Amino acid sequence: MNDLIFRQVRILDGSGGPEWVGDVSVSDGRINEVGTVRDGLAPQGREIVAKGAVLCPGLIDTHAHDDGAFFRHPGMEFKLSQGVTTVVSGNCGFSAIPADPSKDSVAASGGILAGLEGEFTDLNGYYAAALARNPAINNMMLVGHNTVRSLVMGESKQAPNDVQMREMQAHVTRALEQGACGFSSGLIYRPGRYSDTDEVTELAKMAAPFDALYTTHMRNEGDKLLEAVEESLQIARDSGVHLHISHHKAAGKGNWGKVQQSLNRVDEALRQGQPVTLDVYPYTAGSGRMIEYFNLDRVSEDLAEVVRIASCKAFREYEGRMLVDIAAEENISLTDLVIKILTAPFGDRTLCIHFIIDEADVETNLAHADMMVGSDGIPDLRGKPHPRLFGTFPKVLGYYVRERGVLSLAEAVRRMTSLSAKTFGLSQRGEIKPGYYADLMLFRPDDIVDQATYDEPKTEAAGIDMVVVNGQIALEAGQHSGVGSGQMLQFRKGAFRS
Ligand code: ZN
Ligand code: CU
Repeated sequence: MNDLIFRQVRILDGSGGPEWVGDVSVSDGRINEVGTVRDGLAPQGREIVAKGAVLCPGLIDTHAHDDGAFFRHPGMEFKLSQGVTTVVSGNCGFSAIPADPSKDSVAASGGILAGLEGEFTDLNGYYAAALARNPAINNMMLVGHNTVRSLVMGESKQAPNDVQMREMQAHVTRALEQGACGFSSGLIYRPGRYSDTDEVTELAKMAAPFDALYTTHMRNEGDKLLEAVEESLQIARDSGVHLHISHHKAAGKGNWGKVQQSLNRVDEALRQGQPVTLDVYPYTAGSGRMIEYFNLDRVSEDLAEVVRIASCKAFREYEGRMLVDIAAEENISLTDLVIKILTAPFGDRTLCIHFIIDEADVETNLAHADMMVGSDGIPDLRGKPHPRLFGTFPKVLGYYVRERGVLSLAEAVRRMTSLSAKTFGLSQRGEIKPGYYADLMLFRPDDIVDQATYDEPKTEAAGIDMVVVNGQIALEAGQHSGVGSGQMLQFRKGAFRS
């Protein structure tokens, strides 16, 4: 008996093939029939007639920082409302695990892991705690270099000694054994930036026996982008793992256009047989902890000119404003303003948005066949967060597919579903196939539109009629059902059971 039957929908099954019209049924959390439905409808079941709407697999956000959001915002409205049914957390070298409950991992992450609480130490513990909060969507985890290094070596700028290296390797292996999909690095952040290529390679090697990933926020995304790509390729080659480059971009006006050279280098590696994939967010601004981007001894006014404050505990009145406007109003220099913000109490927790990316590069990225979509959203709902938190996926489908024609709808769906599921080991997800988990999005391709802007970033998208997570209706006509049917996922295995 079926719990859900979708009648006469346009099916985009996630494979990238052309759409066709048929019925799809769901039973017991799984996709039951595709094309023609023969089984009946259960007494409590729902039949959905959705002529003209497209049914596709639930979208996968390959670059999330939702480790703590699963505790603080288990409804995950900012993702679910985009049609996202699974996120990959633990990116940029910061992950909920491993953890020492007696230490402040949130502070060590500069707030990226905000929301985490509890006594867990490893992935099993984190998954049990997250699951107990009935999350709305699924989560897959990476184990992060910065987190592992802080736990073992504190704030040390030294290279690890043999004992420390073995201890870090053991943490990485333990997370992989418990189902993490790979090892992530964030080499612009502390303490990752103190690490040399060898250290990262020795840790990435732990992923090889699992056939898992090395994902990286590279050491440089601007003047030394190409050198950083080279280092990433080398680390993955020497450790024998699949490389996934996070939020691929060329930052800073002088570097605009370089993404093409970088992608050419990736293509060359692919031709030589090295597995490489990437992701991108569809915006011309990045976002992160402001203190990571400025040297207080020599503040870059060029950068300050394109910075806007997202969230600032020290000066709430600055949220949503460009530094240039604040500086003009207060009649101080940009340098003095940056120092004032970052040295105030809690000033180092300030999140900013920086307009450093070329629009043409966003399109070049999205046109690449191995490019997935990752929001990189920081789930801090105070202030004015980057609109990518609420808008990433509808923006690709509405603007870049429908209006700009950068890629076809079927191809965009493939890159947000089956490609991501295969790469990140989300088994039996990412396609509409009998037996697969029933993660689904029903949407209207002519209407789907992101509505989150820099001024009103916490606005949900339009044009999405329904989102199903593990067979349960999680969102319908803009209403979050609160059913909480998300699962914690293990690499190439099923869902975690506590
Ligand atoms: Zn990053
Ligand atoms: Cu990130």
